[in-house]
Amino acid sequence: MEKKKILSGIQSTGRLTLGNYFGAIDNWVKMQEEYDCYYMIANLHSLTVRNDPETLRQNTIKIIALYIAAGLDPEKNTLFIQSQVKEHAELGWILDCYTYMGELSRMTQFKDKSAKHADNINSGLFTYPVLMAADILAYNADLVPVGDDQKQHLELTRDIAERFNSLYGETFKIPEPYTKKVGARIMGLQNPTAKMSKSSQDPMDKILLTDSPDEIRKKFKKAVTDSENKVKYDPENKPGVSNLMSIYGIIKNKTMDEIEKQFEGQGYGAFKTAVAEAVIERLEPLQNKYNELLENPDKLMAICNKGAKKAEEKANRVLKDVYKKVGLVIE
Ligand code: TRP
Repeated sequence: MEKKKILSGIQSTGRLTLGNYFGAIDNWVKMQEEYDCYYMIANLHSLTVRNDPETLRQNTIKIIALYIAAGLDPEKNTLFIQSQVKEHAELGWILDCYTYMGELSRMTQFKDKSAKHADNINSGLFTYPVLMAADILAYNADLVPVGDDQKQHLELTRDIAERFNSLYGETFKIPEPYTKKVGARIMGLQNPTAKMSKSSQDPMDKILLTDSPDEIRKKFKKAVTDSENKVKYDPENKPGVSNLMSIYGIIKNKTMDEIEKQFEGQGYGAFKTAVAEAVIERLEPLQNKYNELLENPDKLMAICNKGAKKAEEKANRVLKDVYKKVGLVIE
């Protein structure tokens, strides 16, 4: 039987955090045997906010290096940069014409982001979910692993695909959200009621995958907890400690009960040290591999080019079919 196709991506705005790792990439690594996986860097999406061009370019390459360093094998997965495969933008335009303003106005991420970037509410920000639909539909992906914040975009993708199919006949596969092994949702260290976000302005709120051991120790030491000084899992009333417990649990493969027992009678100081050391130990091999990969940017680019070529072959077939169906002249 043919393997099911998976597609997902991460934007190249900012540097990857522990949240991206446990929420996404670490799970992708576990799926690479069972599925035919396409993982991209969504750098076209990053243009919806202002970036320094050189930083954007560097971030893109760094994320590819982190994908590989985290264990995504470029031989088993198709790893690529969105801007290297022109079909995404082309299909995005066509799908724009099959998406209603009303639908896009209901997207909560658009509302949130336009509140945050009130000085730059560009039309790319508005049509962002259509480009994401193009990313997914260009490969006829069966499954899309996404966090809660992207579920609405996936729903819209399904609506667009169904609309297109009913107008022109079976063209797109209707993608499903991948929910089997949902990764841990890592929260911010300073604001543990919100997801740890790479775009957070507060550097103490997030652990970057490239943070040094000392930075990691410092950030966990300063992590917001509560005054009870008792390691107990209670996300509602003790979101800070509970978040640290989830991080520790996922690394040490322990349940919340086991962690409570292990740290019984010990205060937050000892617990935070244990969490920091666990994270440092977990990230060490990843960081070593990452540094090694960045020493050879040509080799890294060769991997991206190969992935992009493979991706383009697939996406181009779908795009050609779409061009024909809607009556666009290409050859
Ligand atoms: N919008 C996604 C995010 O910010 C990134 C993304 C772009 C994506 N294209 C995608 C995710 C396609 C899944 C599938 O998290």
